[in-house]
Amino acid sequence: MKTEVLQYLPADCPYGGSFHWYETLDSTNTLAKALAKEGAPEGTVIAAARQTGGRGRMGRSFLSPEGSVYLSLILRPDCPAHRLMHLTCAVAVAACDAIEKVTGLRPGIKWINDLTHGGKKLGGILTELGLDPATDHVAYAVIGIGINCLEVPSEVADIADCLSHVTGKPISPAPVIAALLAAFYQMRERLFTQQDAIMDRYRKDCVTLGQQVTVLGSSVCGTAEDITKDGALLLHLADGSVQELNAGEVSVRAQN
Ligand code: BTN
Repeated sequence: MKTEVLQYLPADCPYGGSFHWYETLDSTNTLAKALAKEGAPEGTVIAAARQTGGRGRMGRSFLSPEGSVYLSLILRPDCPAHRLMHLTCAVAVAACDAIEKVTGLRPGIKWINDLTHGGKKLGGILTELGLDPATDHVAYAVIGIGINCLEVPSEVADIADCLSHVTGKPISPAPVIAALLAAFYQMRERLFTQQDAIMDRYRKDCVTLGQQVTVLGSSVCGTAEDITKDGALLLHLADGSVQELNAGEVSVRAQN
């Protein structure tokens, strides 16, 4: 698989230089975080054919059978954590670019980290930061992404879909991994210099905007009105007030 991925990878993308492939891992993010703590450099990639303990946002699990993409990338941006609030959004836009390049289909983004099509989930993103307690600067960021390619686990078939099904042609993981790495490299180059442009693109891809949504685990509901430059969702409530939702704290579900 590694050879196949590297064949698809554009020559100007350095993320093939430290690409680690595993047949089975509990979680590519968990291994990437462990390696980052041991000093693995920016650009280290961990990918697996399957995961036994794939993790999603807010402590959820991410079912990870063979035939899909499970990938984590270590970044080491030298900045305080608050400068990376838009990282998950930037990764989501880059992932849409990559999927569109390989399949011709551009997914939507359900705020903040789900890639969707036709109301079903195609994949998700889990970004995790390690902080240097002395400086409060980011020691490492791990970008984790899972994308359903050839099949969807039957347990989640009512809420999830895969690239092969939605495009009507077999989409195997290797070209998707290569396109993701190329898109992540471009995203990394522009992460701080083009934040506004990245967030404009995020708003265009975001299918949550304009929807009536409920904040999970609460009675708060309203219309998703806008997304800030840091990736927070602005919810217009029935009483006319606007509530800012931070992705670190809440998830939303569309009511319609
Ligand atoms: C979500 O749905 O909330 C995010 C899912 C992220 C899944 C990917 S698969 C590769 C990486 N390793 C993990 O354990 N999680 C991420």
